[in-house]
Amino acid sequence: MAKHRQPRSNSASGGKSGKPAAATAWEGQAAWYDERHGAGGDRLHSEVVLPAVLRQLAAAPGDRILDCCCGQGVLARLLASQGNSVVGVDAAPALIASAKERAGPAEQYLLGDARDLAAVLDGSSFNHAAVVLALQDLDPIEPVLAGIAQHVAPGGRLVLVMTHPAFRIPKQARFGWDEQRSIQYRRIDGYLQPRSVPISTRPGQDAELASTSFHRPLSHYLNALGAEGWGVVACEELCSPKRGSAGRKQEAEERAAREFPMFLVLTAQRLG
Ligand SMILES: C[S@@+](CC[C@H](N)C(=O)[O-])C[C@H]1O[C@@H](n2cnc3c(N)ncnc32)[C@H](O)[C@@H]1O
Repeated sequence: MAKHRQPRSNSASGGKSGKPAAATAWEGQAAWYDERHGAGGDRLHSEVVLPAVLRQLAAAPGDRILDCCCGQGVLARLLASQGNSVVGVDAAPALIASAKERAGPAEQYLLGDARDLAAVLDGSSFNHAAVVLALQDLDPIEPVLAGIAQHVAPGGRLVLVMTHPAFRIPKQARFGWDEQRSIQYRRIDGYLQPRSVPISTRPGQDAELASTSFHRPLSHYLNALGAEGWGVVACEELCSPKRGSAGRKQEAEERAAREFPMFLVLTAQRLG
């Protein structure tokens, strides 16, 4: 692979284009999100999501990795601690500032829009890339996948982690209780129709903290990857680490938690 180029550091106004980074509701949530995750991530990240990303990236020490939509840098820090150099890109200035505060020498964080990576990455190249729990915040996704393909060498992997598009459709999926059979079921009211749905980035808090979640069926993700130069090579379906509440429904709730995957991991390889 050709010698890797480093992107230049950018200012709060965005990348070399000077365009402001995309507005993201996560900016208003940065303090809460940073406190929740700290250096190593919350329970979902540390027990479920990050181990899956490491398995799927299968990075060798010294590999350069792009963490697209890096948030406060929870994945990038972990990769750096394992001997990788990492560039994180995110549109929320406060999350980029938190990531920079904890950054070691192998981490670089840039403010930018994932849908216009060329503007911020300045021709730099990577062995592999990841987008963790962010694709559902982005629309459209095709420029994101195309932009990453421009910066990853043929054969390099892209690991996508998303809320499961078949089981976690915003406002269209929920658990229910079947009294007769004593089972917890998952009810799906809509799936094939793409949707943009306002959701709270911090459940239980006020509406001004809402973000838009974009639902697309699985075929949209697979077709977009193929169209932008990626071939899917692996898939994992991950369950939430949450378990049933104590009481008569506990066993059934735990079975449902183990049976219905809440997160989908797609690993794709850059086609030559
Ligand atoms: C749920 S957070 C996940 C952050 C991080 N990957 C993690 O696992 O903690 C979603 C992230 O996507 C970022 N984001 C949303 N829209 C974006 C865009 N257009 N360009 C870059 N980042 C964006 C948000 O700022 C936020 O940090």
